Amino acid sequence: MTLENNNSIKTFAIMASGSGSNAENLIQTSRKLGANLACLICDQSSAKVLDRCKRLDVKAIIMEKTSSKERHEQEILAVLKEMEVNWLLLAGYMRLLSENFLSHFYDPAKDRNQVVNIHPSLLPEYPGLGGYQRAYEDQVERSGATVHFVDGGIDTGPIIEQGSFKREKNDDLASFTARGLALEHTLYARILEKIIKGQV
Ligand code: GAR
Repeated sequence: MTLENNNSIKTFAIMASGSGSNAENLIQTSRKLGANLACLICDQSSAKVLDRCKRLDVKAIIMEKTSSKERHEQEILAVLKEMEVNWLLLAGYMRLLSENFLSHFYDPAKDRNQVVNIHPSLLPEYPGLGGYQRAYEDQVERSGATVHFVDGGIDTGPIIEQGSFKREKNDDLASFTARGLALEHTLYARILEKIIKGQV
């Protein structure tokens, strides 16, 4: 099975597992810019992002992992193929995607997968879970967020763009994280616009 690849977005899908503030931001941005959002795939039936989809009238498809990773990914791919999705935007999707899954979105002209993720740190610092928390506990002066192409590693794919913010004297983890999330929203909206315009 192959999914159609071309450089600019024809139809995209969002994948999310949690609260969904980034997903909501992408939904609003895509509406403003007229991009075709096929659906949001969520692997957690109790995720708050599903409430957002309902409120925003976005088609949400719950796809929990009930068997092997391979089977789960095949099920997701079948849905995405049916909807002719050619770009995937991960927004707090908390599962690693396999090389095989990603290969269905491979763009040979640019040698990359048309799958993009946002990560809560200035990669390559703090890959994996808890990016803001670990940075906060390490008392870094600056933290940030990274939008990157997804490869088979843990937050190792080519970086598209990063943004940073300063740790303030009175920050607690909540205010530090909130500043990071606000930055993520600005950054991811900008990248979506660039993808739509074929500039990424
Ligand atoms: C965001 O901070 C996002 O960068 C992070 O999860 C949060 C989701 O928030 N993603 C990862 O850590 C992926 N490894 P949201 O559900 O409100 O968008």
